[in-house]
Amino acid sequence: MNETNIREKVREHYASVAEGKTSCCPGANSGCGEENISQKLGYCAQDLASLPEQAEMGLGCGNPISFAKLRPGEVVVDLGSGGGFPGVVLACALAGTSGAMVHLVERNTKKAAFLREAIRVTASPGTVHLAEIGDSVDRIAGKVDCVTARAVAPLHQLIRFTEPLVRGGAKALFLKGQDVEAELTEATKYWNIRPQLHSSRTGGHGWIVELDRIERRNPSATAHGTRA
Ligand SMILES: C[S@@+](CC[C@H](N)C(=O)[O-])C[C@H]1O[C@@H](n2cnc3c(N)ncnc32)[C@H](O)[C@@H]1O
Repeated sequence: MNETNIREKVREHYASVAEGKTSCCPGANSGCGEENISQKLGYCAQDLASLPEQAEMGLGCGNPISFAKLRPGEVVVDLGSGGGFPGVVLACALAGTSGAMVHLVERNTKKAAFLREAIRVTASPGTVHLAEIGDSVDRIAGKVDCVTARAVAPLHQLIRFTEPLVRGGAKALFLKGQDVEAELTEATKYWNIRPQLHSSRTGGHGWIVELDRIERRNPSATAHGTRA
């Protein structure tokens, strides 16, 4: 089977689970009920009870709620939200908590429309910014508690986008793959950071890079054109 066929098969299977036509795991005796797979991903009963009816957490490949350690009423900025991970999941988790808001930044018009519909259907506290990340981060008013991004840009660029928010007290959580070490090496050429690395709980080569302090290593570098 070539790469395109594999992608198509995975897509078909996920669509079928989402439409309730099949279980997430093959085989009648897989023992994989919805709660079972969600709990394997680390969702507790309280998380599952607080979710909108339409949410199917077992279709994910990780649990952004546990790593974000969100408290009620927190404000999150998700960069390059695309299909909604992790931004829409976090918005669902924060639903019903006073003051909570997830800003979903996405430059693609169709994806932004999808995100707006996902927020509407799940009645979650989210707002979609159809914009370039670089143009929108500075314009988000008020205190931000957490910035997230998955599969959007190399780490050193994400750090550049995020620096003003982290300086203002936000925590950054970037979901990265197997090249995390190389990305950290590149990022530390430009930035003083003290990353905490969290390995994937679901296997594979996933990592979460957590940052609570970002300082430009060589402020004069910008003037000489070696911008991160
Ligand atoms: C590979 S997708 C990942 C989407 C989602 N975070 C996920 O993990 O499923 C990357 C998304 O980031 C958006 N994106 C990339 N660079 C961006 C930028 N500079 N400003 C706004 N959106 C951007 C793309 O349009 C795309 O939807």
